[in-house]
Amino acid sequence: MIAGERSPPDQLAARWRREFPIVETCTYLVSHSLGAMPRRAGESVHAFADSRMTRGVRAWSEGWWEMGRTVGDLLAPIIGAPAGSISMHQNASVGQAIIGSCFRYDGRRRKIVLTSLEFPTNIYVFEGFRRYGAEIVVVPGQDAISTNLERLLDAIDEQTVLVPLSLVLFRSSYIQDATAVIEKAHRVGAHVVLDIYQAAGVIPIDLGGLGADFAVGGSVKWLCGGPGAGYLYVRPDLGRTLEPAFVGWAAHAEPFAFEAAAIRYADPPERFQSGTPNVPALYAARAGYEVVADIGVAAIREKSLRLTRRLIERATSAGFRVNTPLADEQRAGAVIVDVPDGYATTQELIRREVIVDYRPGAGIRMSPHFYNTVDEIDHAMDVLRDIVGAQSRG
Ligand SMILES: Cc1ncc(COP(=O)(O)O)c(C=O)c1O
Repeated sequence: MIAGERSPPDQLAARWRREFPIVETCTYLVSHSLGAMPRRAGESVHAFADSRMTRGVRAWSEGWWEMGRTVGDLLAPIIGAPAGSISMHQNASVGQAIIGSCFRYDGRRRKIVLTSLEFPTNIYVFEGFRRYGAEIVVVPGQDAISTNLERLLDAIDEQTVLVPLSLVLFRSSYIQDATAVIEKAHRVGAHVVLDIYQAAGVIPIDLGGLGADFAVGGSVKWLCGGPGAGYLYVRPDLGRTLEPAFVGWAAHAEPFAFEAAAIRYADPPERFQSGTPNVPALYAARAGYEVVADIGVAAIREKSLRLTRRLIERATSAGFRVNTPLADEQRAGAVIVDVPDGYATTQELIRREVIVDYRPGAGIRMSPHFYNTVDEIDHAMDVLRDIVGAQSRG
């Protein structure tokens, strides 16, 4: 759409804005960080409180204990996974640590290959496996935006155990070529741990079709599910054979037998669970998944592309540098706009109720979601131009 052209009727915003109170109070363009909270998540958290207050310990056998599985099953169709393949955890870091603990690093095959553009937690978690013999190979990015795919593929060899890979890079919103990485990894006998945090709920994902071995992420961002609800997908055939060292009693085949011996693993997905599920977070997350499933990721993506194109048009016509791929097929939900003194500019945007964030080395991250409108994009860009103009006038 060309700036100034009339936009098509925005049915998603008309239908959903009332469900997200915060979008009526500010220009909320930060769903890559914390998606807006749906009213029904508030109601769901109240339902948790009611069940705790009125049912007490009986609530465990009235749905709480199985919530990791049942909430994972709600998420599964959103990311192209079958029922029973997802376990729920505190966050994505825990999910990755559990996967890391399924493998050995004391033989010839002991490399973990990842790029310098990964979200830092991915590097921190896998660096920790050096003490068990892992060799960590960090492949430098092409630039601030994208991976050097050729170098990454070359680094994956017969000595590689794992390749942690963000489907969407957090700094640039760049969609990585997961198909090529999975194909190379499988050719040499390695496994790929896809981090789908910046992808789930905003771009279509087909974990089954991709043949991903593992996937991790959380519910805080595009899924509008809130903190404390990380997820771990394990490819069903792998899930039946892997034995995580990082376990807890909820991963036992018979947790209520309270056996004091080495674990007898449950079937997936419980096999990858640790201890007691994070029940209140799961109540909240469930509501976000329901909204995203109700709208459908294809419709969210279609709208997201319309709004991010608009953002890019407005940013480039104002002469700002965009640190996000311009091609639709390479760009996920955020647009990163680089302006002089980006940190101070971000603070001023927030002061003027345009809620965005800033990442050093990237710029101001701005993310429309299904509840935002074209008018909000235009307003945010008008305010940004105004702030930058005032700065340059001195
Ligand atoms: C791509 C990506 N991975 C991981 C994380 C964080 O993971 P965790 O759930 O462990 O906090 C983020 C958070 O911003 C992220 O953007």
